[in-house]
Amino acid sequence: MTLMQDWQGKTGDVWADEWLRTDRTFEGLHRLLIDRAVDIAYRNDVRAILDIGCGAGSTTLALADGVSGARLLGIDISEALVGISRARAGGAPRIAFAVADASRWRDPAFVPDMLFSRHGVMFFDDPVAAFENLRQSARPGASLIFSCFRSVEENRWASGIGALLPDMTAPVPPPGAPGPFAFADPAHVEHLLAASGWTQAAAEPVDFPYVAGAGHDPVADAMSYFQRIGPAARALASISGEARATFLRRLQDFCAAHLAGGVVRFPAAAWIWTARKASA
Ligand SMILES: C[S@@+](CC[C@H](N)C(=O)[O-])C[C@H]1O[C@@H](n2cnc3c(N)ncnc32)[C@H](O)[C@@H]1O
Repeated sequence: MTLMQDWQGKTGDVWADEWLRTDRTFEGLHRLLIDRAVDIAYRNDVRAILDIGCGAGSTTLALADGVSGARLLGIDISEALVGISRARAGGAPRIAFAVADASRWRDPAFVPDMLFSRHGVMFFDDPVAAFENLRQSARPGASLIFSCFRSVEENRWASGIGALLPDMTAPVPPPGAPGPFAFADPAHVEHLLAASGWTQAAAEPVDFPYVAGAGHDPVADAMSYFQRIGPAARALASISGEARATFLRRLQDFCAAHLAGGVVRFPAAAWIWTARKASA
């Protein structure tokens, strides 16, 4: 389980330190997701795009490049990540960032006609209320597009690490609990989008390589990345002694077994969801 408070604290801080490597894990999904969003934006003459849970701002900047003339606002609950986004944007016109909780966010000066997110909408305590708030913040007819992970089983970087853990693993969160896999079940997401008033919901499955390690020693890079972010980092926070040493040995073998073409990469699987706010 990853809660909003985690992102406001240590998890957000670590993601801010590691944004180059987290971006790399999304690279195989990024272009397709941005292309889909840009296509929707042009077909609907979109003028104001909200990037929800924008992290270090890579998607906000890519959308600003792709949709000429549109204003962009990236919001994130983590001050550290918004700080990185602002620094990267360097005061570019059309682009702004704000520290805000998307489940409560409203800005009368920025009424989006597209709401976008790359993996930033799975952490709400009450997703129906959050998506309803986002719908109400938007113009009639606004488009929604976001990505999220499919099941743990289809995401080998996560299921594989889970299988390496010694017996006393952290309890598996209940289905739909806030966290990276909260939106794995499409029936759940379809229900919550309908319950929050979004129409025309549709999901597209996308498979992509999750690159955890690269450079002159990809296995060492993947080992250091996994000890900072994700299920291995979470597990390591609560194990010590022999169990820790065993886990790290297994993690090393797991990474080495996935070294191919000069990178350590794992199968990853996401949904790209689209939906609309009804026209007035
Ligand atoms: C998995 S990261 C994805 C970040 C970014 N979209 C990317 O693709 O690199 C999830 C992001 O959602 C943000 N987040 C989580 N809950 C949020 C909330 N209630 N409101 C705004 N941002 C939130 C986190 O701080 C984090 O930056």
